[in-house]
Amino acid sequence: MTMRISVFGTGYLGATHAAGMAELGHEVIGVDIDPAKIERLQRGEVPFFEPGLPELLRKHVESGRLRFTTDAAEAAEFADVHFIGVGTPQKKGSYAADMTFVDAVIDTLAPLLTRPAVILGKSTVPVGTAARLAARVRELAPVGDQAQLGWNPEFLREGFAVEDTLRPDRLVIGVESGREGRVEAVAREVYADAIARDTPFLVTDLPTAELVKVSANAFLATKISFINAIAEVCEATGADVMQLADAIGHDARIGRKFLGAGLGFGGGCLPKDIRAFMARAGELGVDRALTFLREVDDVNLRRREHVVSLVKRELGGSPVGRRVAVLGVAFKPESDDIRDSPALDVVGQLHLAGADVRAFDPEAMANAATVWPTITFADSAAEALADAEVVVVATEWKEFRGLDPHAVGDAVAGKIVIDARNCLPTEAWIDAGWRYIGMGRYAS
Ligand code: UDX
Repeated sequence: MTMRISVFGTGYLGATHAAGMAELGHEVIGVDIDPAKIERLQRGEVPFFEPGLPELLRKHVESGRLRFTTDAAEAAEFADVHFIGVGTPQKKGSYAADMTFVDAVIDTLAPLLTRPAVILGKSTVPVGTAARLAARVRELAPVGDQAQLGWNPEFLREGFAVEDTLRPDRLVIGVESGREGRVEAVAREVYADAIARDTPFLVTDLPTAELVKVSANAFLATKISFINAIAEVCEATGADVMQLADAIGHDARIGRKFLGAGLGFGGGCLPKDIRAFMARAGELGVDRALTFLREVDDVNLRRREHVVSLVKRELGGSPVGRRVAVLGVAFKPESDDIRDSPALDVVGQLHLAGADVRAFDPEAMANAATVWPTITFADSAAEALADAEVVVVATEWKEFRGLDPHAVGDAVAGKIVIDARNCLPTEAWIDAGWRYIGMGRYAS
C-alpha cells in the first residue's frame, strides 16, 4: 500500500531515505530548514557525492512522487508517517551527542499533528532519547496519544546508501512498551517490500532499538581497532597483518570483513558514535562497561600519528619544506565526506609540521578546502605526484589502486610509497623499484 511519508533532515541519511521510500512506491516529502539545500534537491540535485542517488532523486522528483519543502506544516498536513533523519553530531567540547536538531524536529512537528500519525526516528541517539521524545510528542500533539513514536535505526553505509536503503540486511523497530499502538503495523506497511523478501524484521522496545545501532557501530569500530592493534605488533615483529587477517578471517566466528588494517576509521558515524556511547554510559553509571572504547579510539587515532611519523622518518627527520603527495582526503572511497577523515588528518598534520603537501581526492577536495584553506590541493593525482619525495596513499580510491608504478616513478622525486590503506599491488610497486611501506606488514 502506498504510504504518505515525510522525512525530516535531508543530509546523507534523510535525502537517501526520502528517495528510497519513493522508489518503494510511497509518496514522499523531504523537509529541511536549509532553503538552499531544499532548492537544489527540488531541482533534482544531490548536494553531496553518493553513487546512484542523483539518478534516483531525479527519477522521483520528475515522477512527482518526491518533493521537498522547508515548511513543516506542509509535511504534517501531507504525511501519516514522519521519519526523523537529522544529524546528531558530537557536541563541542564534549563526547556527548548534540540533540539540538532532533529536539527541534519534535518541537516543530508534534504541535502540528492534528490527526493520528506515527513518527519513526532514524537518527543515532543516546539510549533513553526515544522514550523522552515519545512522551514529549504526546504532550505537544493536539491529537495526544494518537501521535506515536517508534525508533527505526538506520545502518546505511556511505557509498552504498541507496543499496542499503532499498535492500537492508535487517529492520529494527523499537516500540514503546505498554503503548505499542500502531507503530509496528505502520512500519510493516512502509517496509512491505523488504519484508516480502524475508528481510529479518525485529521488533524491540525503545532502548533496545537505540542500543542496537550504537552497539553495531561500536562493534565495527572495535573490530577495526583490533586489527590495527595487531598491526602494531606485526610492525614490531616483521609479521604480515594482511596474511594474519586472511587466516583468522577464515574462522566463520571471526569473519574477514572489517579486518582491513590501515589508517583506521573515520566518517560521520563511527568516531562520534563510540564517544557518545561512552558519554551516555557515564551518565548511566556504567562507564566501566565501555572504557575499552577509549582504547579503541586511541588505537584508531594512533594510526594517523604512525603514518605521519613514517613520512618524517623517510624524509630523515624534519619534513619542513619537503614535497609530500597525499592521495585521498575522503574518509573512505566512493564518498566526498571528510568528517573525522583519517586521510585529511594526515594531510593537516603534515602541513602543520611544515611539509609542502600536495593532496588530491577525486571527490572530496571542495569539502577539504573549506576546512584547510591554506593547503595546496592538486587538480589531479598527476599534479599531486609531480616531484614528490614521498607518496602516501590515504584513501583507497580505485583510481589510486590502479596507478602505474612505472609512470608514477618517472614523475616523482623519490620512489617511496606509504600504502596507508594496504590497497596497492605490492609486488608491482616493488618490481618498479619503489620502496614500499605497508601498514602492519613489511617494508621493502
Ligand atoms: C558506518 C557503518 O558501517 C554503518 O552501518 C552505519 O550506519 C554508519 O557508520 P560508514 O561511516 O559509511 O558506515 O563507513 P564504513 O564503510 O563502515 O567505514 C567506516 C570507516 O572504517 C572508514 O573510514 C573505513 O575506511 C574504515 N575501515 C573499514 C577500516 O579502516 N578497515 C576496515 O576493514 C573497514
